[in-house]
Amino acid sequence: MRYCRPVKQDENALCSARQGIHKFGNSSCKIPAINAKMIYNVMQCNEKYWCKGCVEMGETKRIFSGIQPSGNITLGNYIGAIRNWVPLQDEYDCLYCIVDLHALTVRQDPKELRERSRSLLALYIACGLDPEKNTLFLQSHVSAHAELAWILSTFTYIGELNRMTQFKEKAEKHSDNINAGLFTYPVLMAADILLYQTNLVPVGQDQKQHLELTRDIAIRFNNIYGDVFTVPEVFIPKVGAKIMSLQEPEKKMSKSDENPNAFISLLDTPDVIMKKFKRAVTDSEAEVRYDAEKKPGISNLMNIYSSVTGKTFSEIEAEFEGKGYGEFKVAVGEAVIETLRPIQERHKELMDSKDYLDGVMKAGAERAGKLAFKTLSKVYKKIGLIPRIL
Ligand code: AQP
Repeated sequence: MRYCRPVKQDENALCSARQGIHKFGNSSCKIPAINAKMIYNVMQCNEKYWCKGCVEMGETKRIFSGIQPSGNITLGNYIGAIRNWVPLQDEYDCLYCIVDLHALTVRQDPKELRERSRSLLALYIACGLDPEKNTLFLQSHVSAHAELAWILSTFTYIGELNRMTQFKEKAEKHSDNINAGLFTYPVLMAADILLYQTNLVPVGQDQKQHLELTRDIAIRFNNIYGDVFTVPEVFIPKVGAKIMSLQEPEKKMSKSDENPNAFISLLDTPDVIMKKFKRAVTDSEAEVRYDAEKKPGISNLMNIYSSVTGKTFSEIEAEFEGKGYGEFKVAVGEAVIETLRPIQERHKELMDSKDYLDGVMKAGAERAGKLAFKTLSKVYKKIGLIPRIL
């Protein structure tokens, strides 16, 4: 959200945070809790009015989430995360981050990392995240993330980090580079979220454990120092929370999978998408029926098809009754191609608008930086660090 213009003193406005009328400059304000100082801080943006005081008091719920530029983002990232962020932008104060520092836990080619980070910002926008309504920024542009992570690492136990399944999976996958950052990744993630006094974190199922740890760290800190952090809630979609690999349907679809046939990249061409779906691993039956345990491959395709068409599993079963897997796979491929087509077109336009993307990045980092600094200063003060003399 941006604050575009101050509202005039005697103007009436509906505060989207409180859903009430603020009558400026006199006693008829319908919301008793609003004091004069806040009334002067009402701003208008896109025909919506927000009382800055309400936002700061947490009346507007804040959302934070992010994706690593560790590969080209997949259909799993889209269905499990970004797509669910879009409808939230009208109701919440949303910060969506490109978590480039997290990507460093796996060795990256510097040039590719830069390109993918920019491309991911363009994809956020192409998928429908409006930079006027959301704060879109790069994690490395707000140094408070790394700073708070250090503090929080002193409030996190080795035993807790040892239990993280993502660490175990990634350590196995990258056995030649089990670095300390891979191990402390959930602490940086906790810092990302807690810096912004986040209320809600929309993520896929795989991040639930990290979110629980974030909550534990926040509660632990608050128990010692008072209510410093908002304790965030996790928000997991009902359908599509875990899209599986097309080649090993027992495993999650991941952008860094070594086998490109295992995932659909949001930027794959229609031909490639269709080929990948045709090659998707299924079972020896020929019945399109949902059974995640016995038929993980076909169930995963049904999950994808349901996510992009809105059809229920029983509607899909009826649609493909008596038809083979081949026909079903083509239908899934076509539905995904059509879903991604407008995103890919918009992404291409945005990638040609360097100045525009730079402007979004700059504005996002400025707003996020201010919010983050406020929390970090509070934390420093609480734990006994002398505030920096400027
Ligand atoms: N397969 C998935 N199904 C549903 N949601 C998914 N997410 C990731 N994979 C799936 C959700 O996407 C968001 C961003 O994830 P991330 O990039 O921060 O990290 P990740 O979960 O480790 O994603 P990847 O694609 O598996 O990345 P790599 O290969 O680099 O490890 C999160 O909300 C996540 O839940």
